[in-house]
Amino acid sequence: MLRPARWLAALLLLCGPAAAADLTLRIGGQTRVLTQAELLASPDAIEMPVPQTSPAARAVPLLQLLKGLPTDDVDTLEVQASDGFTSQIPMALVRKGAQGGSVAYMAVEDPAKPWQPLPKGTGTAGPFYLVWQNPTLSGITSEQWPWQVATIVGVESPAHRWPQIAVAAGVGAAARHGQDVFVAQCMPCHRMKGGGSADVGPDLGRPMPAAAYLTEAGLRALIRDPKAVRTWPQQQMVGFDRSMLSDADLDAVVAYLQAMAR
Ligand code: HEC
Repeated sequence: MLRPARWLAALLLLCGPAAAADLTLRIGGQTRVLTQAELLASPDAIEMPVPQTSPAARAVPLLQLLKGLPTDDVDTLEVQASDGFTSQIPMALVRKGAQGGSVAYMAVEDPAKPWQPLPKGTGTAGPFYLVWQNPTLSGITSEQWPWQVATIVGVESPAHRWPQIAVAAGVGAAARHGQDVFVAQCMPCHRMKGGGSADVGPDLGRPMPAAAYLTEAGLRALIRDPKAVRTWPQQQMVGFDRSMLSDADLDAVVAYLQAMAR
């Protein structure tokens, strides 16, 4: 069944071309709406080189955008893109930027100087693109760069919001680590047993858990390169090579999917 809130959100998205140029922050009961023009003119904005935004993007530090909002009790920033992609960014990772870690920035597209189209022809990464300075310092992953950002909501940790995504007590360390890998790398597109906010790919836990109908070898091959398992024109999932997902993290996420099938 279509839930009314989602349906309404989809309708609003379709009807409101002006809304596309706003960035909405909802933190601790407060809402802040920022416009592209406002952010481009911000005294905190810098020019930084960012892939997909050649030659450079104007970007504002994320912590600066959140200043004055009640972030103390926020565990995670749920970053919602206009296409259904939803990143769960730990607030600790954003805070670490002020202490020598990777620094999160919101890159803002200037309508007068549009960025290049995305490879798959779905517009540009703008108007708002969450990017990181020195991403390797904090081990930022490929799925922690959400583009076409529309809304950022302060939420509790994923396992707290959706207890059904958590591995059972007593499972091995690999599956336990796999849960974190799943949240960072897979949950932007997939749900687990209904837990999650994304609508891009199928739920990997229900009705039948993925590890119950895909073999371990098949899962590994699919995660590295979906086209190696099966292929069709509308296929969307992009594979994770070793630079995006280490062998250890692949082991962990497969162990997690297996644990969720027990
Ligand atoms: C950018 C979005 C995206 C991300 C990130 C993503 N997937 Fe997918 N995935 C999809 C889509 C969409 C499909 C449906 C098939 C297609 O269009 O490629 C899919 C299909 C799958 C399937 C096959 C399910 C079935 O029943 O056919 C598995 C298993 C899977 N993904 C696992 C993963 C895992 C594990 C991760 C994280 C390491 C991940 N995916 C990350 C989008 C994504």
